[in-house]
Amino acid sequence: MAETVDLVSNVSDTARWVAAFRAVESARPDALFHDPLADRVAGERGRAIAAGTPRLMHNGWNLVTRTKLIDDLITKSVEQGCDRVLNLAAGMDTRPYRLDLPAEFPWVEGDLPALVAEKNELLAGESPRCALTRTAVDLADPAARDAFLDEALAGAQRALVLTEGLVYYLTEDNVSGLAAALARPEIGWWTLDVNNQALVRRMNKATSDLLANAPWHFGPVDPLRFFADLGWAADDVEVLVAAAHRFHRLPWFMKPVTLFPQPDPRKPLRSTWKPWSSVVRLSHAAASR
Ligand SMILES: C[S@@+](CC[C@H](N)C(=O)[O-])C[C@H]1O[C@@H](n2cnc3c(N)ncnc32)[C@H](O)[C@@H]1O
Repeated sequence: MAETVDLVSNVSDTARWVAAFRAVESARPDALFHDPLADRVAGERGRAIAAGTPRLMHNGWNLVTRTKLIDDLITKSVEQGCDRVLNLAAGMDTRPYRLDLPAEFPWVEGDLPALVAEKNELLAGESPRCALTRTAVDLADPAARDAFLDEALAGAQRALVLTEGLVYYLTEDNVSGLAAALARPEIGWWTLDVNNQALVRRMNKATSDLLANAPWHFGPVDPLRFFADLGWAADDVEVLVAAAHRFHRLPWFMKPVTLFPQPDPRKPLRSTWKPWSSVVRLSHAAASR
């Protein structure tokens, strides 16, 4: 395998990394979820990237926790009337093959062309449990993104958009553009993981070799304020360390963090030097009710 610095040759390789940790979690007797396809889509490169993961992300605790939280948010949203999922930058996600969804439930995935082609090949013999469509799209290209959204949302009334593990690879301008593009009546919710500036700085330092070809960018001082200023209010916020502690996935050396009160996400973050990472569900005033 390649040197650490070449393991992630571009941002799409990071999808293999997430899949590798889903496979590790799935093999545990007390697994929080079971993803039988994760190891296949992770591949040798995914496992090698996981092996080079910095201590800060020991055993992928943050990725496993994020996966479980988002699984639960999807289930909750479907119970609340969500009629479609759009997974933007879906990477090697395999939820359409493992979540308990109605066979006719529409699920649309979008990602960069090379990744989509490889994923189609890797999963060619598998049957999704819902009505899955997979589309190649560059979400950083506003015209391509908007055309994708028009097509993917046709007929939807209360879609859930998922951008898991995406926004910090984008610039702040890209994220503002995405937030504006998603503010449309067919979209009921937007679920994503967000990090504050302190966490993005710490991650970039810890992964300067591993993510040299895919560094993190977007990380506002107060992420919830950033989205609120664009009209997106959070109705669900799960602080990652607290959830990981609850799930018994937080590494021992991070446990002291849980002894201090977590910031109230509904108030402006005061301790801006403290790393903060959460899974959030946002909704926009333009969304249908
Ligand atoms: C960390 S992975 C996350 C994958 C998946 N959402 C997950 O959580 O397992 C980041 C994903 O973003 C995708 N991506 C990055 N920039 C993109 C862009 N401009 N358009 C579409 N997809 C993009 C990559 O191809 C990759 O699959």
